[in-house]
Amino acid sequence: MVTLRAPDHHGLSIQEPLSKTMEKKKQDRLYQVDTVPEDFDFSERVVEVFDDMLDRSIPHYHEVIKGIATLMDIHLEAGDRVCDLGCATGTPLLEFSRLLQHKDLQFLGIDNSLPMLEKARLKTELFSHTENISYRQADITSLELPGTGAFILNYTLQFIRPLVRPLLLKRLFDNLRPGGLLFLSEKTVEEQKMLNRSFIEVYHRFKREKGYSDLEIAKKREALENILIPFSAEENQKLLTDAGFDGLSVFFQWFNFCSIVAVKPR
Ligand SMILES: C[S@@+](CC[C@H](N)C(=O)[O-])C[C@H]1O[C@@H](n2cnc3c(N)ncnc32)[C@H](O)[C@@H]1O
Repeated sequence: MVTLRAPDHHGLSIQEPLSKTMEKKKQDRLYQVDTVPEDFDFSERVVEVFDDMLDRSIPHYHEVIKGIATLMDIHLEAGDRVCDLGCATGTPLLEFSRLLQHKDLQFLGIDNSLPMLEKARLKTELFSHTENISYRQADITSLELPGTGAFILNYTLQFIRPLVRPLLLKRLFDNLRPGGLLFLSEKTVEEQKMLNRSFIEVYHRFKREKGYSDLEIAKKREALENILIPFSAEENQKLLTDAGFDGLSVFFQWFNFCSIVAVKPR
């Protein structure tokens, strides 16, 4: 069983089971209010409810993390650095470090939101086996991390300005070691208009099943307009090919969500 060791100053009990602590996630009620929504951002207000928001807004969020961990288990080498870009509250890195304890990997989380990183650091402190996880506040579009074994871009590229995306992916390609991996998970659009509308409806039904009301769904959609700009799965694959990746595969797809793994040639 995974246990959490809570330092005294956080006022939490010692060796609390992970599952129990996860139940304490604050519920996302941001869009239950009766006001016109502001543009979505990654401020303190969002960070407070972010883990619940991801659980209820990203289909198969934890399965995708497990899939990435399995592929890294197969392909990465001892001493490799794994870099999670837009690491948010650190959930994927904590899962990776737990699932890949036997691998001798170094985990680095990068985000430009200080409230996100504060929460990630707190969650990381609550775990045992955390010597190999660190965090850095930085803009992911101007990184220099040569020789990295794997970059993870889970639901982050969609928040980067479209014009900057090709340059970012080229930079990541250049910073990977030969044989290194890039994982890209995104919300996507369908090129066929009728199917696009159907997939959006399927997604909204998923959110209703997770307890969001029609009004909350509509307001969140409005708040994300022009902030989250999704590409089609094909456009994302072309961006990766243009950046230099020669082998790439979709390893997960659920309607308008898609995860791709890309390999840098040796
Ligand atoms: C949807 S969240 C990512 C979720 C996270 N990867 C996960 O799977 O739990 C997007 C994150 O990207 C971060 N972000 C957006 N633009 C960024 C940039 N230019 N540099 C660094 N972080 C950025 C945001 O602060 C936010 O934490």
